[in-house]
Amino acid sequence: MCGIIGYIGPNDATPYLIEGLKRMEYRGYDSAGVAVFDGEAIETRRAAGKIAKLEAALAIDPADGFVGIGHTRWATHGPPTERNAHPHLSADGTIAVVHNGIIENSGTLKAALQELGYEFRSDTDTEVLAHLIQELFEGSLEEAVINALRKVEGTYGMAVVSSRDPGKIVAARKGSPLLIGIGEGENFLASDPSAILAHTRQVVYLNDGDVAVIERDRYKVLDVDAMPQPRDVDRISWDLAAIERGGFAHFMLKEIFEQPTTVENAMRGRLILEDGTAKLGGINLSHEQLLNIDNVIITACGTSWHSALIGEMMIEELARIPVEVEYASEFRYKNPIVTERTLCIVISQSGETADTLAAMREAKRRGARTLGFVNVVGSTIAREDDGGVYLHAGPEIGVASTKAFTSQVVALALFTLKLARKRELSVTRGREIAQALHELPAKVQQVLDTAAKIEEIAEEFKRASNFLYLGRGYNFPGALEGALKLKEISYIHAEGYPAAEMKHGPIALIDEMMPVVFIAPHDAVFDKVVSNIHEVKARKGKTIVITSRDEPALKGLVDYEIRIPETVDMLMPILAAVPLQLLAYYIAVKRGSNVDQPRNLAKSVTVE
Ligand code: AGP
Repeated sequence: MCGIIGYIGPNDATPYLIEGLKRMEYRGYDSAGVAVFDGEAIETRRAAGKIAKLEAALAIDPADGFVGIGHTRWATHGPPTERNAHPHLSADGTIAVVHNGIIENSGTLKAALQELGYEFRSDTDTEVLAHLIQELFEGSLEEAVINALRKVEGTYGMAVVSSRDPGKIVAARKGSPLLIGIGEGENFLASDPSAILAHTRQVVYLNDGDVAVIERDRYKVLDVDAMPQPRDVDRISWDLAAIERGGFAHFMLKEIFEQPTTVENAMRGRLILEDGTAKLGGINLSHEQLLNIDNVIITACGTSWHSALIGEMMIEELARIPVEVEYASEFRYKNPIVTERTLCIVISQSGETADTLAAMREAKRRGARTLGFVNVVGSTIAREDDGGVYLHAGPEIGVASTKAFTSQVVALALFTLKLARKRELSVTRGREIAQALHELPAKVQQVLDTAAKIEEIAEEFKRASNFLYLGRGYNFPGALEGALKLKEISYIHAEGYPAAEMKHGPIALIDEMMPVVFIAPHDAVFDKVVSNIHEVKARKGKTIVITSRDEPALKGLVDYEIRIPETVDMLMPILAAVPLQLLAYYIAVKRGSNVDQPRNLAKSVTVE
């Protein structure tokens, strides 16, 4: 989703802006632009489409200066055209603004500004900010920004430069992440640490309500009343190599192949094999608090919501606590039953998903204790939750989530073990699950070793128009996830269902043109799934079956088999996820899709 970068220092800003924007490409965007103060005036260059087009525009007409801001836009208000691309200039051209988020009262503000004679040149809500800051400017850029924000409703991560108060970038945050990067004789601003990591690891994360003034060799953070606010300097620990492709054709493939390591990292130092439990330092829940949980709500979006469904089954089966899984976007508009004895688990790879963050805040407001299962360290959810479990999957760049999903399921399994062992789970069963977790990384590697076979299957089905994914029990959420992966990156229509639900409707779709992926390992519901495979074969559907044994019951029913190792039922979705990710990946590549940045999607969805 939209990305912001800012540079102020002794060097020409534009190369830093372009480099930062490229580092954020993975977030998804459809236009880009920069604004640079050249000592006299603000120069903007903008382009619809990829950053390469912006670079081409800059090559023809360079923009040089020591202070600048840049932006990648993911369209919300108005199509992805050059005129809607950021930065937006004030009417007099002295103020440039880049903005992530949505100004909810932009219509009212626009009408008021038009009354004053301002003419609008774009369809965006952001342009309102540029004119409003011009209108309120009396010599100090930060004062004008603060006064403008008093009139603004909505969410923003924004950066502003002005030729009338040069030598500074003013930034403000409410609901959309921003951080200051502290360099030597130069400073940076970014919405994503990856944008500045090549230059500094020292960062200050801004909080909602902060306004920052960034100069070449100092910065300050203010609140909305212009009072200085102390903020800690954090250090980013992961390195740039972790966000580069390392020889793989795509980030997605690299991230799929990283899973033996990321699954291991999610458990590192946490699994206590001999006690059949887990140690989770960050959850901030006492023994009594763990015992006093009456119910659990898990809320998330997309892939993270699928892992939530698996977590629900684990916690109910082993800890015997009622669990509800809610789409974060729905939860905040319901009247959910939440008490002080409700534990609300929030799952998010990015830690910035607007719907998930809002759901967490709503659960907190109603008195629940919140736990964030988050990958990105220092993200907003991680900073606002009451406690949490980091996934330690490393940066996930591919828009389609892969390694974060398997790490989420591992983290949920660890949490379930901890919770369940405090309650009813016997040490024997706890040990069995802990041992199975311990063996997982090697088993994930075994699945990856079958990638060539999965690529062959992809070749057979690359022209399909529809796909059905079916599974039962723990593997039903896996079916949803398999379908989501395929549609996200290959644009093939795909649906996931509980296998037995097929006969209540989707079975009407089955004919010789319909590939059906079954997740059918040897588990508690295997025999039931075999009956469903019969139903598909009887209607000439093509079956791709992910299974874990040489099963006589499958004889004659399987057109394409993918073999995965065995594990305990609750961890099977982790092993089954890998071939589903690979199948989606290879099909998408064969169809020529932009796998890492599929159309219309953003890595981090920071709008409601
Ligand atoms: C996953 O492949 C998707 N791109 C998407 O559904 C994603 O899982 C969702 O937007 C939630 O993101 P989060 O985990 O960062 O909160």
